[in-house]
Parts: sequence; structure tokens; C-alpha cells
Amino acid sequence: MRSAGKGRFSSPADPKAAKFSRSVHFDQRLARYDLRGSRAHATMLGRIGVLTRKEVAAIVRGLDGMEREIVAGKFRWKDSLEDVHMNLEAALTERVPAGAKLHTGRSRNDQVATDLRLWLRDQIAGDREAIRTLQRVLVGLGEKHREVILPGYTHLQRGQPVTLAHHFLAYVEMLERDHGRLLDAAQRADVMPLGSGALAGSTLKLNREMTRKLLGFGSISKNSMDAVADRDFLVEYLAAAALVGVHLSRLAEDLILFSSAEFGFMRFGEAFTTGSSLMPQKRNPDMAELVRGKSGRLMGHLVSLLTVLKGLPLTYNRDLQEDKECVFDAADTLRSSLEVMAAAVDSLEVDAGACLYAVSAPELLATDVADALVRAGLPFRKAHQVVGAAVRQAEESGTRIDRLSEQVWESLAPGMGRLAEEILAGSPLMRLKKALQARSAVVGAPSFSGVQKELTQWKKRLR
Ligand code: ARG
Repeated sequence: MRSAGKGRFSSPADPKAAKFSRSVHFDQRLARYDLRGSRAHATMLGRIGVLTRKEVAAIVRGLDGMEREIVAGKFRWKDSLEDVHMNLEAALTERVPAGAKLHTGRSRNDQVATDLRLWLRDQIAGDREAIRTLQRVLVGLGEKHREVILPGYTHLQRGQPVTLAHHFLAYVEMLERDHGRLLDAAQRADVMPLGSGALAGSTLKLNREMTRKLLGFGSISKNSMDAVADRDFLVEYLAAAALVGVHLSRLAEDLILFSSAEFGFMRFGEAFTTGSSLMPQKRNPDMAELVRGKSGRLMGHLVSLLTVLKGLPLTYNRDLQEDKECVFDAADTLRSSLEVMAAAVDSLEVDAGACLYAVSAPELLATDVADALVRAGLPFRKAHQVVGAAVRQAEESGTRIDRLSEQVWESLAPGMGRLAEEILAGSPLMRLKKALQARSAVVGAPSFSGVQKELTQWKKRLR
């Protein structure tokens, strides 16, 4: 911090060093929070008699004026002043002589930690709202297509029938956990470092409780060394953000597959797809692909910060300045991914017929047939074997299990032929509806009634 005056240094920083260490081009994002912290700090200094009432008023007025200029884009940031804190302090002191007293009992170390926590609180509040929006869109789409049945997959092989709403609600659940993790991170970040000074507090009788109240923090840090060295709260945010990214990426992947010609279950609205410069017929799901791709950035930022922190001795080290770019980029990436995903999902057009066609193969009810045999007294392993043999026989004779005769079933499981036939009888849609309804007794299973109950509950919760 050479530029603040003569003091310790006789020569200016080397230009390469100054450029290398400068952060004002990215940490000016913290300006509003820095000003808020300064107002609270000045008010507290007034209360404990370090500043006169007039000085406090002049400082606060000066800070307010600066905020207006910043909001209007008129504030002149100076590269020569290294970071946001020094820019704001210098500008204040130019306007208000008492500004020179503002840094009493304060260091940029507790200042930056405070700014970041204040910033994070607002950021997370917005992220949680963006998650809510995406959840609402998913629930809305589930409602709209609540009759649509499609295959549920394991190993990307058709497994059992589910409803489309059930599939979407799986993501609503994931996002709900993300929402909780972000809230959790915000709550743990809700501790005020200000008053910890450079690392060892102050000999002045700072009233930290007063500053805390003014800034609206839940509590005060209890160890000055931890307070200036700690970036756990950012790691937790990055971890939560990375996991949201992973969930969005999985959703994106499902939708990319489902909107391919191979599946054909749905397609994105034109506004969320792009054409090909070469192939005129293309309708590419670029937004979903970008969301999937950007999750890599979110994961990377988490690893970056962990790596920055891992070898640092207590307390503050300049390495910590590297926290900001990854956290800011993560925050922007997270927010835009959530917003674009919500809009893209909202644009989906569903082809119920294609879904039904894909789920119509009677083999998807093989497990249901085995369940019926179990209800009639067969041990599950035996039932599994019987139905497996039926599937093989059907395959070998070039037919499907719903076309096997009662005699074939009888030969595989005496006395059970009619049961198997009952499950497999009727049109695909009828038997699928029956199969889903048969799940209504199991909490969490995709029966129409069970899914409807979930949709209703989510709607209420997300209102
Ligand atoms: N720009 C610095 C950062 O973000 C502020 C703290 C500087 N403190 C110091 N002792 N050099 O980390």
C-alpha cells in the first residue's frame, strides 16, 4: 500500500508489480458493500469518540455522494490506487478531510472480508430466487403434461414407465437441496469480521456490537486471526454453486438427448436453439449444451480456491486476493445458467405421442409381471427368472411378451399364466396407466395420483 503516502517506502512500485497486483478492475464490484461498511465503521467511531459528530456526518455525506456517482457510472476509478478500498478511501479524503480518520482501527484485511460477506449475502438471496424460478418452470411443465408417460432409464436403457412430471420433479428435488445448501452457506457467512484489524484487533475500544447491528450481521467473529484469514464461506458458496452446476448439467443432458431425433420426446423453442452454418435442417440445443459446459467452470473455481487456500499460513496473505475473480465468475455463471435454463425449459414443446411410443414396449412391464407373481406367492428370485425366460422365449420366436400364450406362461410358472396376461392385456396406454396406478400405495413412486399430490405440494411451496 505504497500509494497512500510517503511513509515506509521511498520509491514507487515497479510498474510490472503494480499491474500484476492491481485488483480495482474486478473488486470495484464490492464498492457498494465497502461504502456500507465504511458508513457503519465511521458511525461507530463517532459513538466511541474517535470522530466528532460533525466528522461522522461529513464522512457519511461524502460516502453517499460517492455511491451516487458509482451507481451513475460517473465515479473515476484509478488504476494507480490498486484496489476498491484504496480508491474509495482516497476519493473520500479528497472530498472530506476527516476521511483521513476513517481507517482508524481498521485494515483492508478485515475490510475485504466484511465486504465479501456482505456481497455474498445479496448474491445468494438472488441465486435462491433464480432456483425458485427454475423449480416453478419445471413444476409448471409437469402440470401441463401430467398425462405424459415415458420410459424411465437406467444405464440409458429403457427400464420402467414413469410420468414426465415425475422426471421433472426429480430435478425440483435436486434444486431444493441446492437451495438449502446456499441458505446454509449464507447463514455461516453471516458473521462480521470488521474490528479484527490486520490480524490482532485494535487498542482502540471499538464497539463491534454496534457495527454488527448497523450492518445487519447475525454475529461477530470471535478470533481476529481466523476472521481475516478465513475464506471458508466462499468455498462453501463455490461448492454449492458447483453442485447446482452439476444438476443443471444433468438436466441439460437429459433434454439434449430427449430433443434428439433418436428420442424425439420434446424440442426446445426456436429462440433457444441455433441452426448450423452448413446443415440447413439443424435445430441445435446450444443453450443446454452451454449450461452443461459451464458446469465445468463452476467446478474449476471451487478447486481453484481450495488450492489457493491450502498452504497459506495464518493470517492474511496476498494470495487471498485470488478469491475474487473465481467467486465473481462463479456467481455470474451460476446466475446466468439458472436463468437461461429456466427460460429454455419453459420453451419446451413435448411430443406426447413419441413418449408413448417409446414406453409402449411390453417389456417395460416385466418387473410388474414379476411383482404380480410375487403377490401370488412366488419368491421374487423365481418370479424374476420366470419373466426373464418369457422375455427370452418371446425374443427367440420373434414376438413380444404380451403376445405369448397363456400356455407358454403356464409352462414357465404353473397356475400363473392368467396373472401375467392381466398385466400385459389391453392397449399400451391402458396397461401403462394401470401399471402407474398400481404404484399409488408407494410414497415417491410415479403413480398419477402420487405425482399430482407432489405437483400440488410444490406449487403451494413455490408460490
Ligand atoms: N485487495 C486486497 C485483497 O483483496 C485487499 C486486502 C489487502 N491487504 C493487504 N494487506 N495487502 O485481498
